[in-house]
Amino acid sequence: MKSVVLFNGSPRMDGNIATIMGVVARGAQDAGAEVKNYTLFKMKFMACMSSFNCRREKGECPIQDELAEAIERVKKADAVVIGSPIYMMQMSGPVKNLYDRLFPLMDSDGSPRYPGKKFLTVYSQAVDDPQTYETYFDYTAAMFPSFGFNLIGNIVCTNANDPENAERNADLKIRAYALGKALVR
Ligand SMILES: Cc1cc2nc3c(=O)[nH]c(=O)nc-3n(C[C@H](O)[C@H](O)[C@H](O)COP(=O)(O)O)c2cc1C
Repeated sequence: MKSVVLFNGSPRMDGNIATIMGVVARGAQDAGAEVKNYTLFKMKFMACMSSFNCRREKGECPIQDELAEAIERVKKADAVVIGSPIYMMQMSGPVKNLYDRLFPLMDSDGSPRYPGKKFLTVYSQAVDDPQTYETYFDYTAAMFPSFGFNLIGNIVCTNANDPENAERNADLKIRAYALGKALVR
């Protein structure tokens, strides 16, 4: 059975990211995957401490917290989804901390230690134009190959201050469901 790991980086438990991640998860489950959801704002975890332990041979991260188990699951997963609201024109703080903690997934030369994972990003933003942060999304995506993440799509929910906007957007949910399935194919 294929495994998919999802990280929700929004503090709003019933917000737009939660809605979209739920639909993506359903698509992946309907395609036969085992799905594991993590809500970063419910987890106690530290930022990367820059021990560089993971850069020595295949050294492990010395931080043992709630994120450590999730990262082990990511290493073994077939597909990963990371969803974040846009705060101050960037991903939310916990999502940035998650990416930093994924440092052990890449080797010192930038090559992936666990290659071949399908990857999907989900962002929500207040502004109406879905292209507003496109340059940022592309810039951020440059790190994904080093994690072994092959980006298959990016879902952007606009006008997202209203927590129910994604729920009302049928087209967005259809795309989210299809991409959830595509993670498993
Ligand atoms: C601290 C903070 C900073 C924000 N900065 C931006 C921003 O730079 N651009 C933007 O479009 N929306 C911004 N927003 C709005 C959020 O992106 C929006 O409320 C969020 O995507 C809602 O998603 P959710 O329902 O999944 O929590 C900001 C919101 C907060 C709380």
